[in-house]
Amino acid sequence: MNYNKVDSNHLSFFKSFLSDAQIVSAAAELHKFAHDETEDLVYFPDLGLIPNSVEELSSILNYCNQNQIAVTPQGARTGLRGGALPVHGGVAVSMQNFNRIINIDEDNAQVTVEPGVITQVLQEAVAAKGLFYPPDPASKGSCFIGGNLSENSGGPKAVKYGVTNEYVLNLEVVLADGSVIWTGANVLKNATGYNLTQLMVGSEGTLGVITKAVLKLIPHPKMNMLMLVPFRSAEDACKAVAAIFKEGIVPSGLEFMERDALVWTKDFINDDSIVIPNDIQAHLLIEVDGNHSDVLMNDCEKIMSVVEGFDIDDVLFADSEAQKNTLWNLRRKVGEAVKSNSIYKEEDTVVPRYRLPDLLRAIKSIGEKYGFTSVCYGHAGDGNLHVNIIKGDLSDEVWNDQLPLAIREIFEHTISLGGTISGEHGIGLVQKNYMDIPFNSIQLDLMRSIKNVFDPNQILNPGKIFPD
Ligand code: LAC
Ligand code: ZN
Repeated sequence: MNYNKVDSNHLSFFKSFLSDAQIVSAAAELHKFAHDETEDLVYFPDLGLIPNSVEELSSILNYCNQNQIAVTPQGARTGLRGGALPVHGGVAVSMQNFNRIINIDEDNAQVTVEPGVITQVLQEAVAAKGLFYPPDPASKGSCFIGGNLSENSGGPKAVKYGVTNEYVLNLEVVLADGSVIWTGANVLKNATGYNLTQLMVGSEGTLGVITKAVLKLIPHPKMNMLMLVPFRSAEDACKAVAAIFKEGIVPSGLEFMERDALVWTKDFINDDSIVIPNDIQAHLLIEVDGNHSDVLMNDCEKIMSVVEGFDIDDVLFADSEAQKNTLWNLRRKVGEAVKSNSIYKEEDTVVPRYRLPDLLRAIKSIGEKYGFTSVCYGHAGDGNLHVNIIKGDLSDEVWNDQLPLAIREIFEHTISLGGTISGEHGIGLVQKNYMDIPFNSIQLDLMRSIKNVFDPNQILNPGKIFPD
């Protein structure tokens, strides 16, 4: 598909209804529209636009659709798959000014929010009313709700409370031709035709641009308990995960960190709050939450009896809010710490949780075969492992030519274990050429057909999801 570059006529059109502050064309300012958090990738758009209203966004899309100009919707650009990169130039549309929490409806436990609201800001606003919006990606302090919707983000709480899509009731969306629709209704049950709401969630800005979301809220749990369990074998740590669930416990966080993940993060943020003995290969960070301390104590005792069946060192129970924050901060910073340590590639594998030890073993043996090291961490309770492949002193040749083969092997193995190639980071640009692994041509053609119905001119976020 060919796209038109933004020329002076196009610019004049945008200037007819947008202010100077809403149009970015100088190279220095355009840089922020050219990257997200994916490796070191940079793709400049011809123009950055910052609409303030649904009407402005609708005019932009309608015009780009008629003039065959690529449109890349952008949130906070914290994504890890290049989903927000304007790979075909054209117009990057930032949703940063759609930043209002429109209404917190306490009677129905719902919130209506615009997509440019920072996830943590939303969480804190509803928490002030005793309500809980659980999805909490590691970037919650900077990512936008719109990006979370587009990638179907997860995070540590997903293990008990589910990922973003489980909280979405209704969406206002501007379609490729500029028309504006609501996808559903503000209700908790809906058996009325195809589920357009859920189709939009996770569609990575390829089917429309979300301008409002009605989200479900739940009562905020009153208390939690947090423990850090050091294991002498990383595979044992993975085995303990399914064993905890088999005891009938659903933790509100069950995170796995390989040794280096925690060691590098401690260095990265200069944290000396915990000591990691030399023989420790992995940790589980386990949280339980609820409203009754005796129930939580009982859960913790059961978890202790499970993990003590493995070769572990002393378990650390966080005894203050400050210590809990320190431990969660360590966990949330792992991704940044890895990024600062080496050139890397990050995969987002997910398997049924009982297969987690098999997945970890396979990743390490594929690493030995191809000569790379990896640092793994992630949401073990969901069977979701972030695999960071480290460049270290690998040659560029091996990195560029051999690594795609190794990643392909990891993904094929993930599928053979009943898993899939992204749990929460999406496909975007950098994983699209692996989409033939989870899906055959019938499945991919179905997805392409859906895309064509919504966006026949292929202007919305082109170059994403579908293999070249
Ligand atoms: C995390 C992000 C990378 O779990 O998903 O830290
Ligand atoms: Zn994650």
